[in-house]
Amino acid sequence: MERLDKFLSDAGVASRRELKALLKTGVVQVNGRPVTDGAMKLDPAHDAVLLRGEPVEAPRRVVLLLHKPAGFVTSTEDPRDRTVMELIPPRYLRQSVVPVGRLDKETEGLLLLTNDGELAHRLISPKHGVEKRYYARHAGTAGEEDVAAFAAGLTLRDGTRCRPAVLRPLGPGESEITVTEGKYHQVRRMMASRGMTVAYLRREQEGALSLDGLPCGSVRELTEDEIDRLSSGNGSSPANTLYSG
Ligand code: URA
Repeated sequence: MERLDKFLSDAGVASRRELKALLKTGVVQVNGRPVTDGAMKLDPAHDAVLLRGEPVEAPRRVVLLLHKPAGFVTSTEDPRDRTVMELIPPRYLRQSVVPVGRLDKETEGLLLLTNDGELAHRLISPKHGVEKRYYARHAGTAGEEDVAAFAAGLTLRDGTRCRPAVLRPLGPGESEITVTEGKYHQVRRMMASRGMTVAYLRREQEGALSLDGLPCGSVRELTEDEIDRLSSGNGSSPANTLYSG
């Protein structure tokens, strides 16, 4: 059993505060009767809740894909900076989505948000080895020795060991980097350890998901199919070649 106002706010109908006023107007019905008291207890599995005659669905799992612009911090709140939450429509904020992992303030690209804690854990944990592919513009040009060093597993300047990663030089000052973990400033620090300071960084792919033309600053909800593919296995693309064992 749970309170009607909690059920309605978890379902994304309105915030707890807004609900008080909404309920007073008599637009919410439970099992055919108007209810104005948010404290009423209901069983979401059995009781039918209607808002203006339309059924209100029980809270559901939401996974969002945001094309994060530079200048926003990956955090739910921040005293100084704008956060990625400012880019998320209120109806999703009411469903308690939070960022999965982190992109640096100046890094652009694919960032997932969800209200499914288990899924978030699976995506972040290095144990599951979900591949994240980045595009970088940087000082210098990556060469064969750099590629080999990434493949062997780099040691960063502070002694941190990284798992093997793929560096793909694209041309002078441009590379693609694929990693399966998410240490602090990892890609920037990996490139810096090879003398290639990163000037621009964008995450283009995570597992089977890519930005796929989603405009910078925009957000879209993943389909059930996409979520299923993310939740089963490691969610990596069929082209997964980083680890075979
Ligand atoms: N590596 C970085 O250095 N920054 C990011 O935002 C993500 C990966």
